[in-house]
Parts: sequence; structure tokens; C-alpha cells
Amino acid sequence: MMSTVPFVIVATVTVIVATVSGKESSRHEILRGHQIWQLSNDVGDVPLEVMQKGLLDVLGHFGTSKKVRVPFHCLEEAQRLLQEKGVSREILVEDLATFLEDHERLSKRLTSIGKSFENRDLWMVHVRPNDPSDSEEAGAVWIEAGIHAREWISPAVALHILKELVQDNGSIGNFDVYVVPMANPDGYNYSFTSDRLWRKNRRITSQPGCGGVDLNRNWDFHYGVGASENECSEVYRGSEPFSEPETKALRDAMTKVKDQLKVVMSLHSYGQQLLYPWGYTKHKTAPDTSDLIARGKVFADAAKSVHNTVYKVVNSAGDLYKASGATDDWAKGVLGVKYTYTLELRDEGMSGFNLDPSHIVPCSEEVWEGLKALLYEISKE
Ligand code: ARG
Ligand code: ZN
Repeated sequence: MMSTVPFVIVATVTVIVATVSGKESSRHEILRGHQIWQLSNDVGDVPLEVMQKGLLDVLGHFGTSKKVRVPFHCLEEAQRLLQEKGVSREILVEDLATFLEDHERLSKRLTSIGKSFENRDLWMVHVRPNDPSDSEEAGAVWIEAGIHAREWISPAVALHILKELVQDNGSIGNFDVYVVPMANPDGYNYSFTSDRLWRKNRRITSQPGCGGVDLNRNWDFHYGVGASENECSEVYRGSEPFSEPETKALRDAMTKVKDQLKVVMSLHSYGQQLLYPWGYTKHKTAPDTSDLIARGKVFADAAKSVHNTVYKVVNSAGDLYKASGATDDWAKGVLGVKYTYTLELRDEGMSGFNLDPSHIVPCSEEVWEGLKALLYEISKE
């Protein structure tokens, strides 16, 4: 009896530590250290010969090249044999177990937070910091994209940020990151199939030919100001606050993590502006305005350093136009998140919504740098 108690404690602590550090052994342990190689240069029968020796596993071929899996204990021998026969290789996957684990981790993070009007999933990805034990201190950033259908650069940038987070860099400091890469999938789809300049969701309204609610006028904070009651308007606010399944789902998911949220960034286009609240009025200054501007400039400077793109840090209502019921105002006004922004991405208007795809990568790169700099600044507070 005496000796089982410490054992239980040790076992429990071990499990907790293993879970927190994410180092628990996985069901892919058997593939630990295995590599995927791409063999090139007219390999002929060489891979088969090496396979017959039990040194590798031919997975598939394309033209004259072949893709093979090499077990950990055969790496040296297989490489030596192939070299002898004049076959070169490129390592595609360094460690198959890690590769599969990463893949699984990503698929587990894709949670559906609800359904759109036309029943499409609204996906949210939660990326945790490399050392999750520190995340409580750092807090979280919420990135929303694609709430306006025609602003195609927005979901593209969100996906790029996810790629940076998941594949390359792992995390931004110790921040938890929540990304909703496509908040308005019905409208987005419609902007491909039927109307390139579609903005709203696809709600069926009482007026035939006038569908859709502007999801960025549907949030419940000073609802109605600078928005329209007219179903045919591009800025139709909906029948009531949170009348739409998309805004409801976003509201509920954000509310669940509200205590963690330090930054909410809503990605839009176009204009190259970082907008800070309020959007509903130009006669009131939002709390923390000087910090919002100062940190916003940190974003803009870092973003500019990448491809020399200028993002102006401006007030939503004062410098752009008055509009209520948007994500940023609600997140600040209701949830109390200190830093809430709307980022109008590239360009300044030359191509507008119809931005050439060649902008996707550079625009994403500058936003990623800006975001990292912004969060780094905020983490020092
Ligand atoms: N272009 C965005 C829109 O019209 C700007 C939103 C800015 N934020 C605000 N609360 N007005 O929805
Ligand atoms: Zn927009």
C-alpha cells in the first residue's frame, strides 16, 4: 500500500508532463526515422534490386523517377548502394513518424464551429504554442477571414498564416492562435460560380433577387448605425443582430475563448489599411486608442520591411466610413478584447478585389511579419 501511492503520483505527473510537452509516443513509432526519398536520373531497375535486398520500399513512380521509403536502419546501406549505381536521391521526408504526427495534429485542430446558411461547415483551426504550458500567460490571437465573399485575398492570407504556423514556424511566441479561414463559404462559392463581386452571405430574404446579409453589419454592438435595413443593399444588416448562422457561430466560438483573447484581426480587402475601432462612430474615441495606434504602427513597419508595401494605420469611422455591427467593434465593445483590428489587404485599388494571384504569397509574407512583430510587442506588456 505504502509503495503504490508514490507510484500513482509519479505516473500521473508523467502523463501530465507527456501531454503538456506533446512528446507522448504515438501509433507511428514503428516508422520513427524512416525517410521518403525521391530517386532520379533514370533509375531503371536499381530501386527494385535494392528493394529485393530488403533495404527499401518502392511507393510509386513518375516518369524516370521513383519515390521510396527507406527504414531507419537501412538509410546508410541503401544510400551507399544507390550511389554506387549512380542514382541520386532527394530527401522528401526526414522522419516519417513526425510527418504523420504533424498531419494528424493538424486534422485534429480543424473544428467545425457551425454551419453556414447553405449548410457548409465553418472551420476553425486552433494552433497551440510549441510549449503550451506558457500559453495562459501570453493569451491568444483570433484571425477571421473571408467574411466578405469577394475579398479573395483574405482567406488566401489566412491559409498562408496557417501554413507558416503548422509547417514552418510552429507558433508565434507563446500565443494560441485561432484562425477561421472562411467565415462566409456560401458567399465565397457564389463569387466563383455566379457573381464575382458578391459580398454578403446567401440568406434568402423576402425580396426575390435581393438575397444576402452583410455579415460585417450583423454583430450586436450599436447595431444598425451605418448599415442598411434594405434587403437589396450591399450593407444589409439582417433582420436582427446575429440573425445569421455564420455570425452566431463566430460569436459563440469567440465567446468561449474570450478571456484568452488579446488580439482580434479581421482580414478584408482592399485598401492597405489597418483599421482600429470604433467603426460605429467618429465622435467617440475607443479605449486604448493610443496603444492600438502604436502597436498598429509596429505591424505596418514590419509589414513594409518585407516588400515595401505601405499599410496606413487609420480609424475606421473617422478615416474610412461609419459602419456598425462589424467583428472588430463587437470584439472590443462586448468581449473587451484590447486590440481589435480590421486589416484591409492589398491592393490600393488598381485591381481591387480582382487581385492577381501573384500577390498572394508576397501579401501573406508581409502580413505574417507584421503579425509577428505586433504580437511580440504585445507580449512585452
Ligand atoms: N471594409 C470593412 C467593411 O465595410 C471595414 C470595416 C471596419 N470596421 C468597422 N467596424 N466599421 O465591413
Ligand atoms: Zn470586407
